[in-house]
Amino acid sequence: MEAVLELLVISAGVSHGLETSCDAREDGSQCYGALGGTVYLQLVTDATRYDALSFWKGSTGAKTEILKMKKDKWVIKDTPIEDRVHFFINNGTLRLNNTRRNDSGEYLQETFNSAGRLSGIRGLQLFIEAPVSSPQLSSECLSHGEMKVSCSSEGDGPQYSWTLDGQTQRDTRASSDNETNTITLKKGLSGNLTCTIRNYISSDSISKRISPCPEPGVSVFVYFQLAEVFILLTVCLGSYCFYKKETYHHKEVSRVYAVSGGSWWDTDEGVNVLRGAMETN
Ligand SMILES: *[C@@H]1O[C@H](CO)[C@@H](O)[C@H](O)[C@H]1NC(C)=O
Ligand SMILES: *[C@@H]1O[C@H](CO)[C@@H](O)[C@H](O)[C@H]1NC(C)=O
Ligand SMILES: *[C@@H]1O[C@H](CO)[C@@H](O)[C@H](O)[C@H]1NC(C)=O
Repeated sequence: MEAVLELLVISAGVSHGLETSCDAREDGSQCYGALGGTVYLQLVTDATRYDALSFWKGSTGAKTEILKMKKDKWVIKDTPIEDRVHFFINNGTLRLNNTRRNDSGEYLQETFNSAGRLSGIRGLQLFIEAPVSSPQLSSECLSHGEMKVSCSSEGDGPQYSWTLDGQTQRDTRASSDNETNTITLKKGLSGNLTCTIRNYISSDSISKRISPCPEPGVSVFVYFQLAEVFILLTVCLGSYCFYKKETYHHKEVSRVYAVSGGSWWDTDEGVNVLRGAMETN
């Protein structure tokens, strides 16, 4: 079946920029950053309150120190990410520039009191995601007039949602892998269909005006086919009848001659006419 005519395609990209910030002051915080963007991680409310602070990539075990702060001095340690990190001591915020996928992972911070004793350990999980982009919409008519619509995008962990003229579509038959999401619309539906895709750091949407799918049986094409079959049948039937009639006449004429022996019959427009006779009994 052919896809329904696309009358209008609008793609509305919603840009949230490539900067994200995260409050990581609680233990076990989950933070998200856009791939290639900048992420702000607030580690403590005010770092000057602490005598010392350490920030590590990795959890207990294999961990690499990134930041060390002592009194009101801080240093970024010699790590592969050192040229991408900055620390704002007044609000305890660490900025990581030009994020990469391998910045994802666990981080750990330790704070120390004036006596140099460990006063707190807090872990955080950082996820670097590619923003969702390039949403695409395609539709296909199914039998029974239903419509299958698929929305696809690039980006990490996309979540899909659908509206038709602003009304949320909750199609229970929605199927989804990560790149494509498909819903089946009931027959006869039309309007402005919007697919919205979002992940933790970005969102994008695409809209398309859809018109109802043709229902089976109303198609002009089907009528044509039916008419063709009818004409063919008529022709066949007609030829058959004509043929039958012909052979019948031949038989009758020969039978008349056979039975009557000496009588001479003729057929004139279907009526047997006695032309001559030589009766024997
Ligand atoms: C990070 O990005 C900011 C603004 O995007 C820029 O001012 C700064 O120089 C960059 N580098 C570092 C190491 O923070
Ligand atoms: C901390 O301070 C820096 C520089 O003034 C600012 O860019 C950042 O947004 C601040 N962060 C928070 C969480 O207040
Ligand atoms: C992280 O990935 C970048 C490329 O995106 C690479 O250059 C760098 O060496 C990697 N760092 C680590 C620690 O694996």
